[in-house]
Amino acid sequence: MKPSVLVCRAVFPDVVDRLRAHFEVETNEPDVVWTREELIGHLQGKVGVFITGTQPIDAALLDACPTLKAVCSMAVGYNNIDVPTCTARGVLVSNAPDVLTETTADFGFALMMATARRIAESEHFLRRGEWTKWSVEGFAGSDVHGATLGVLGMGRIGQAIARRGAKGFGMQVLYHNRSRLEPAVEGDLGARYVDKATLLRESDHLVIVVPYSAESHHLIGAAELAQMKSTATLTNIARGGIVDDAALAEALRERRIAAAGLDVFEGEPSVHPGLLAVPNVVLTPHIASASLPTRRAMANLAVDNLIAALGAGPNAGRPPTALNPQVLG
Ligand code: 8YV
Repeated sequence: MKPSVLVCRAVFPDVVDRLRAHFEVETNEPDVVWTREELIGHLQGKVGVFITGTQPIDAALLDACPTLKAVCSMAVGYNNIDVPTCTARGVLVSNAPDVLTETTADFGFALMMATARRIAESEHFLRRGEWTKWSVEGFAGSDVHGATLGVLGMGRIGQAIARRGAKGFGMQVLYHNRSRLEPAVEGDLGARYVDKATLLRESDHLVIVVPYSAESHHLIGAAELAQMKSTATLTNIARGGIVDDAALAEALRERRIAAAGLDVFEGEPSVHPGLLAVPNVVLTPHIASASLPTRRAMANLAVDNLIAALGAGPNAGRPPTALNPQVLG
């Protein structure tokens, strides 16, 4: 009998077939979003699980699933996984970095541009049949080229966004991060380190790319929004909860900042009604990494990790992007 693994969501069948070479595989072809209890039920007797960025893996779930040895996610963000507890229980965890960096940065830039140039708002106007005449100030937004780009969180995706701004659009790039980059990296990116207050005060377009954690919860709330320029835009492609959505909706309604572009939301897929009610926000359903080649690469990387973590395939025992490789010794 081959060991059994679970694939939590509907995933490219040919990618899942790579697992079938080594394991009995239970899939979720109807793509049901299982409750926690349903997930625990499906995990009984499984040694490994392929997850996405949303299934919570914590101590209570691990208690209820004692056979589990590997949790492999196709997301780069892993705030849904209690990694220290997995490590303490000897459960290998992997995420999916690098393969989505450029695609996600493309989207962050596109969302920022759509926000600055009021693309969604003007498209809705046109679809409503309200375009009866051209006007001089009609949907006049702010420039992207030559403006000051602020990057909050300067990891791989933040750096890829900074590079686009500095090298593609002649922007001044400021960033704030827990740790400062090496001067050579800063020089290469054309980015300048500033404190958070300076970043908020000076950015024309602020893009948020920090991982979610207890420390980054509501990193941007009413007090931070009040420090931004009234002409500024804010784009969040990181995680819901980093921005206080209620405070943001209020700031947009009162035009305390010009506009926002949001791909992630507190409590998604629910969206704060205040955000749905204002015109000056571009809303997308958590699709920053959603190009077909990239989603395939993310899924393949999770499969590579799962096969290796469970001691099979050419990298047996050496999952390529493990977060706690020490559990394998
Ligand atoms: C994923 C993401 O699409 O990788 C992440 O952290 O947020 C997205 O790229 C999503 O989490 C699916 O796993």
